[in-house]
Amino acid sequence: MKGREVLFSHANDEWCTPDWLFWVLNQEFGFNADAAATDENAKCNCYFTKEHSALTSDWSTDTIFLNPPYSKIYPFMKKAYEASLNGAIVVCLIPIRSDTKYWHEFCMKADEIRFIKRRVNFSNPYKEKTSSATFPSVVVIFNYWNEKKSETPLIGKTIDKKEYDEFQKACEIQNRFPGG
Ligand SMILES: C[S@@+](CC[C@H](N)C(=O)[O-])C[C@H]1O[C@@H](n2cnc3c(N)ncnc32)[C@H](O)[C@@H]1O
Repeated sequence: MKGREVLFSHANDEWCTPDWLFWVLNQEFGFNADAAATDENAKCNCYFTKEHSALTSDWSTDTIFLNPPYSKIYPFMKKAYEASLNGAIVVCLIPIRSDTKYWHEFCMKADEIRFIKRRVNFSNPYKEKTSSATFPSVVVIFNYWNEKKSETPLIGKTIDKKEYDEFQKACEIQNRFPGG
């Protein structure tokens, strides 16, 4: 690979989850590790990096947040599925690509899929502005040992930034007028 291509493929791995979306999921799951991160973009105190790779680490006792590097979605989704068989809960933010191997081999064995309304705005340290993804994203949840196991993934509640914004606004108003 030539210099610019290396930079581009590297940059393409660094699309960061917007805070609102992580906040919504973390409220519910209480993550104890971010499986794909750098020192700069980690969402949890405990995280794995390219150097201390998530792919060769044990996740079995963890509740993991995963926004995988886009150049390695397949191995990360394989790892997420297998870790769930061993006891982990893994919540993945990934592009919906229903024509891929990772979709059929792993996502279709997930416990729940939640669609996200509108495109997600990802930030990237290699780009000047945050930009709306050029593809739709989805949250795929692996929780193999949950009690309500079904053959196919459940379609969960749609994730909508508008609901989060309204909630934020309501909290601001309450803080401005405590007890109101
Ligand atoms: C899409 S970004 C997600 C960043 C951040 N965790 C977030 O959600 O905003 C994927 C990250 O995984 C890192 N990464 C690449 N290979 C990895 C590996 N084998 N193990 C852990 N992290 C890796 C990349 O450097 C990049 O920072």
